[in-house]
Amino acid sequence: MLVVNNLDTFYGKTQALWNVSLRVDEKEIISLVGANEAGKTTLLKSICGLIRPASGNVEFLGKRVDGLTPDCIVERGISLVPEGGKPFTEMTVRENLEMGAYPYKIWKERQARLEQVYHFFPYLKARERQLAKTLSGGERQMLAMGRSYMARPKLCMFDEPSYGLAPLMVKELFGSLVTMNEQGITILLVEQNIRHALEIADRAYLLENGRVILEGAPERFLQNGYVKKAYLGI
Ligand SMILES: Nc1ncnc2c1ncn2[C@@H]1O[C@H](COP(=O)(O)OP(=O)(O)OP(=O)(O)O)[C@@H](O)[C@H]1O
Ligand SMILES: [Mg+2]
Repeated sequence: MLVVNNLDTFYGKTQALWNVSLRVDEKEIISLVGANEAGKTTLLKSICGLIRPASGNVEFLGKRVDGLTPDCIVERGISLVPEGGKPFTEMTVRENLEMGAYPYKIWKERQARLEQVYHFFPYLKARERQLAKTLSGGERQMLAMGRSYMARPKLCMFDEPSYGLAPLMVKELFGSLVTMNEQGITILLVEQNIRHALEIADRAYLLENGRVILEGAPERFLQNGYVKKAYLGI
């Protein structure tokens, strides 16, 4: 579905990604893990056109998308929920979600999609009529994810959705990701919470200093001596 080939991305003269390649197949959950500053966000931004890579290319559903503007890339079906995705605080949960279906082609489907969002995130259903400003951090994160789903993406990219959340909320959120995936949604998940990210992933990639240093099935990560020591504290 998504094929990223040999990306090099710079901020000015500083290189943030080095020859990064990655693949996401339809209906997979792919976890992209790594420490602070590893380049995870930079990779997501390079995929969705917010930063233009210096070299390499990105294909989505068999067509090149690198070089397109972010709105064209969204139109093709890639969505990105950035870190701490911000809701419209003075609108209700439901209104926020409906905003996600604003492109007129999707507007008529909004009721059916709302119901799916509530199925993925029961917390949101319970808070449907509350103003978004009254939500907890975890609920806001769910709202941002639900809103992006309303726009009918084919590939959902989530940037550290569990960041700063209480353990119970993290568990709930990862459960929602699995439910979304069971409904056929393809997910590229960026996480520092490696343990959780590996639990739900079909495959994973480890970024370090802007380079992919390990990729494959979760078991491969769990059995890797370096990963165990440096990232899992075993
Ligand atoms: N706007 C920017 N301008 C200059 N350098 C940047 C910019 N954004 C990120 N960088 C640098 O690029 C590198 C990768 O950063 P990036 O934000 O992609 O990492 P990350 O893996 O998402 O980290 P985190 O887990 O902290 O979100 C870092 O060295 C960072 O300092
Ligand atoms: Mg980041």
